[in-house]
Amino acid sequence: NRRSRGRPMKQRLLVVANRLPVSAVRRGEDSWYLEVSAGGLVSALLGVKDVDARWIGWAGVNVPDEVGQRALTKALAEKRCIPVFLDEEIAHQYYNGYCNNILWPLFHYLGLPQEDRLATTRSFQSQFDAYKRANKMFADVVNMHYQEGDVVWCHDYHLMFLPKCLKEYNSKMKVGWFLHTPFPSSEIHRTLPSRSELLRSVLAADIVGFHTYDYARHFVSACTRILGLEGTPEGVEDQGMLTRVAAFPIGIDSDRFKRALELPAVKEHINELTHRFAGRKVMLGVDRLDMIKGIPQKILAFEKFLEENPSWRDKVVLLQIAVPTRTDVPEYQKLTSQVHEIVGRINGRFGTLTAVPIHHLDRSLDFHALCALYAVTDVALVTSLRDGMNLVSYEFVACQGSKKGVLILSEFAGAAQSLGAGALLVNPWNITEVAASIGYALNMSPDEREKRHRHNYAHVTTHTAQDWAETFVSELNDTVVEAQLRTRQ
Ligand code: G6P
Repeated sequence: NRRSRGRPMKQRLLVVANRLPVSAVRRGEDSWYLEVSAGGLVSALLGVKDVDARWIGWAGVNVPDEVGQRALTKALAEKRCIPVFLDEEIAHQYYNGYCNNILWPLFHYLGLPQEDRLATTRSFQSQFDAYKRANKMFADVVNMHYQEGDVVWCHDYHLMFLPKCLKEYNSKMKVGWFLHTPFPSSEIHRTLPSRSELLRSVLAADIVGFHTYDYARHFVSACTRILGLEGTPEGVEDQGMLTRVAAFPIGIDSDRFKRALELPAVKEHINELTHRFAGRKVMLGVDRLDMIKGIPQKILAFEKFLEENPSWRDKVVLLQIAVPTRTDVPEYQKLTSQVHEIVGRINGRFGTLTAVPIHHLDRSLDFHALCALYAVTDVALVTSLRDGMNLVSYEFVACQGSKKGVLILSEFAGAAQSLGAGALLVNPWNITEVAASIGYALNMSPDEREKRHRHNYAHVTTHTAQDWAETFVSELNDTVVEAQLRTRQ
């Protein structure tokens, strides 16, 4: 423990993620408006005891001039955030290109985008170079702010090259890396031209974490099969040095949701929604508008259910909140039009003059509106084609204390491993099965709903985001100590 004038100092934690938990809008030459987002990662880290966390990430905007950079750096410092400035071209090739057009679909088993597969293959090298350059820029900023004794926690697929850069600067730096997406089967990872370089770089970390044992196992297999290294029960060994590889399933701050449901404004909103949808069962989907979320497949399954169950047509409504995301990537633009087309067709087919079966919104909801919506929902549909964890399923469960609604959950979401006993698990590609599960969920007896809910609620309220962050940070500390002992022996 470090001490200052006899007082123990808090452990400093540098969190490095592509995105800062703050979005910045320029108001003038040297003035910025900052909006803090209270996402899962932020509340997880705020809850870690005895840790003084700082956040390092891409500013998310292009700030070519020094005056603007200086002003933004100063404004962000008040939020304990440190910006990384990437120029427009690198940001485009790194974020839209290598991260979201190559790694993201590959890690979710979707392969390269169909139409421009060859073009992507051709631009692969330049995008990978930009990715490495961007990671190096993150590393420079970390290095500038690092103090002896800090621990550095790198997040997600955007920063796979970072652990190696950091260890090259300072081999004593304690570095952890956590992946928020699935890590795919080694057969998928093998197809990536930069497969070995990325694995080796991640292995430079002291501890590597995933949401599930499957992802951790896939990663170890990739290291053994592609790099020829040895997998051990604790991780991967390379010339006597061990990189610990383990599962750390994330959770949510369930108390935050429970507290929100007690607010008078939220209660009022719940009443309004209950009144608005009286006589109809409410089904809900909340997703970023991303191909991994399986939104078209979900809507087609709902159509099949309506087709086969005419008596339900005026008794059920599907509310689909589709939050726009990565709108500069063509694949996402195509998905938006595709979803709009399907929703329009189904509403045309089954709608009446006074009601439509699907309410589709292309936007996000504020936290309180979302809590109210979760609370009035009878059946939540989380049917991702692949998903690292999926915390919407957790949020829904946390808000269902009184209603005890049903969760239909994709078996390909990490959450299926923790909520599988309480949810109805489905293969999202099989719309016949999903349609049948919708029918089963809507007709489920109160006893069965209660039993299933109890299981999920117990899990969600006891495996919190704070526990997740605390465990990772403390294991990161311990693992480094072990690694240092090992080298000294
Ligand atoms: C996933 C990733 C996150 C990312 C988020 C939103 O959950 O694992 O790292 O921040 O999607 O995507 P965006 O590209 O908008 O940051």
